[in-house]
Amino acid sequence: MCVAKLRILVTRRWPEAVEQELAEDYDVTFNESDKPLDQSTLASAMNEYDVLCPTVSDRIDADVIAGGDRVKLLANYGVGFDHIALEAARAKGIAVTNTPGVLTDATADLTMTLLLMATRRGGEGEREVRAGQWTGWRPTHLLGSSLHGKVLGLVGFGRIAQATACRARAFGMKIAYYGRHPADSKCACDLDAHFYPDLHALLRAADMVSLHVPGGTQTRHMIDAAAIKAMREGAYLVNTARGEVVDHEALADALTGGHLAGAGLDVYPEEPKVPERLLALPNVVLLPHLGSATRETREAMGRKVIANIHAWATGQNLPDAVS
Ligand code: DGY
Repeated sequence: MCVAKLRILVTRRWPEAVEQELAEDYDVTFNESDKPLDQSTLASAMNEYDVLCPTVSDRIDADVIAGGDRVKLLANYGVGFDHIALEAARAKGIAVTNTPGVLTDATADLTMTLLLMATRRGGEGEREVRAGQWTGWRPTHLLGSSLHGKVLGLVGFGRIAQATACRARAFGMKIAYYGRHPADSKCACDLDAHFYPDLHALLRAADMVSLHVPGGTQTRHMIDAAAIKAMREGAYLVNTARGEVVDHEALADALTGGHLAGAGLDVYPEEPKVPERLLALPNVVLLPHLGSATRETREAMGRKVIANIHAWATGQNLPDAVS
């Protein structure tokens, strides 16, 4: 394909294969440092490039968008777009795309990883072995909780939540979910999933809760002290969605006081910072935003971004427009 050389800025390094694919057709600048670009560099880029490919580690706020008039496409490398000021982009006629679908399985796998690590105390066990503190097998050592027969409460029931539900069914779990509407009946039936129109009712019904809602102001602290209080005594919380959905002070209180047995987190409100109190708690598993981190997925995400750029460059409908 030969498209006039559009100038593209990719804000973080991508897997090599997709960097090469993108560079075949465009004049691409990759951020060689692979460190987040500061706000003023991003703002200047709005005047220097035709397309910007940000990630969740960039903050494309209204000030950045006001930085220049040249960028006409924000082709996000990732499915979540709460780090992009959509209204500001829309007002300037800038299209925004994302990468839905291709990271569903990887993120559902990681949700199960966290659920298993939290309920089976995998982090505690690993730290014990590495510290040379394991004294051998004994009947009461690091007892966790079985998944079989337990209710998994999903907050949000989109693609990743449903893929998580499929996996959880294979572990013998029962599925309940909270969302704005009951899901398409075929999907909910296959999973034998029970719909709760009320968040706290779902939280009261679940042994383990997993979050699958987008970030942004509408879901900020959706899991606050009252929501955590509504959760069952000894329940677990897993978050592979966005950090700001959870009030981490309230979570730390519940993990310290014993109301919750454990938690597994992959996302935090101000990444890469991790709330200080959580770092000190043994019963929370902390991963560094690995939800989509498989080679296959990160390449597929790159290919989705490229497909959106090609569509935009050739005047076709954008496959993954979000605005
Ligand atoms: C996303 O795609 O939104 C993830 O959080 C980053 O992979």
